[in-house]
Amino acid sequence: MPLTRKAYRAAILHSIADPAEVGIEASYEYFEDGLLVVDNGQISALGHASELLASLPADIEITHYQDALITPGFIDTHIHLPQTGMVGAYGEQLLDWLNTYTFPCESQFADQAHAEEVAGIFIKELLRNGTTTALVFGSVHPQSVNAFFEAAQKLDLRMIAGKVMMDRNAPDYLTDTAESSYLESKALIERWHGKGRLHYAVTPRFAPTSTPEQLTLAGQLLGEYPDLYMQTHISENLQEVEWVKELFPERKGYLDVYDHYQLLSERSVFAHGVHLCDDECARLAQTGSAVAFCPTSNLFLGSGLFNLPMAEKHKLNVGLGTDVGGGTSFSLLQTLNEAYKVMQLQGARLSPFKSLYLATLGGARALRLEERIGTLQPGTDADFLVLDYNATPLLSYRLKQSKSIAETLFVLMTLGDDRTVAQTYAAGNLVHQR
Ligand code: GUN
Ligand code: ZN
Repeated sequence: MPLTRKAYRAAILHSIADPAEVGIEASYEYFEDGLLVVDNGQISALGHASELLASLPADIEITHYQDALITPGFIDTHIHLPQTGMVGAYGEQLLDWLNTYTFPCESQFADQAHAEEVAGIFIKELLRNGTTTALVFGSVHPQSVNAFFEAAQKLDLRMIAGKVMMDRNAPDYLTDTAESSYLESKALIERWHGKGRLHYAVTPRFAPTSTPEQLTLAGQLLGEYPDLYMQTHISENLQEVEWVKELFPERKGYLDVYDHYQLLSERSVFAHGVHLCDDECARLAQTGSAVAFCPTSNLFLGSGLFNLPMAEKHKLNVGLGTDVGGGTSFSLLQTLNEAYKVMQLQGARLSPFKSLYLATLGGARALRLEERIGTLQPGTDADFLVLDYNATPLLSYRLKQSKSIAETLFVLMTLGDDRTVAQTYAAGNLVHQR
């Protein structure tokens, strides 16, 4: 393949560390007039345009974005593909919401054509919103994951997904068995895990919908293949937490159920964790597991307020999740808007640089992919966004009053959404243009 080298000039901002660990000023790099150089799908240089331009050949193609900010692509650490068609389902909290809306909606994925149609819509929506990597729940049907990976592969996206395993406490039309879930997951792993930029996640829905036999086999799968992910839900809703205690009376608590079945690992991501206790946060951190903070979902389903300071105290890896369709937006900008309010309601703050970290490098660390994505460091995948300061009249007017990149960033996260994402690049390719 011939070398393809391109450069992009704009204001450029990326996280390079967690503000909770190094302080805000050391957590990011900002180039007011920056240049990003991309060679064959990877970033090869990043710096001030004035310094880098001189080192580049005179004939290099340079795209200059005015009134725009280049950032790394966003990383969504928790989302459900088969819930795309049910965002904004009225009136229920978690357990009734699952029975009333979610399970019937997911049942449609038995149909291959439906799975393919929604996979296409879903990936378009991710890219329109600037999400270049997501950790994705399929439905119980393997075809939901095949359709998703086929569509992601065509665009050379870095994506992680898995077929839901659930063999009890759900309608018959939507359950597998311990054995069938093991065999179907295994076949998907063999077909997709490690293929290009795709990875597989073993996906028991949550403790109430898996028998001990199924959880045992989920743990077994993790032992059989290197670098597999595990994703599930934990301690999202108080009724759910009580139900898990009834179903597993011999375990110390909710997390201990997953711990017992060897589902805690460096590549395990637990969604929500709204009602985790101190000991559980400590155990998650000790095992290198991560939590997906899903503020729009936690507010929409009335689940509660995630305690980010407690997670930080334990040095627990936290990523950001939209949790569509419990969550109400594919936009990580809108998700950060709600995250800020969740912190305000607890008398705490969320600095714009911590927010940027959560949506990019924090997510990459939660997924153990920080060597590849989440920053604009040379040597990493060229997954990046162009955010348009003039996306809406109000944003344009408001940003003209901004006195600092901190203020600009915070306003982008408060007023921004899919309209703000002018271009999305994945592996150096333009995969969305507004
Ligand atoms: N817990 C178990 N399944 C689900 C789901 O689909 N969405 C959410 N938000 N929580 C869950
Ligand atoms: Zn979820």
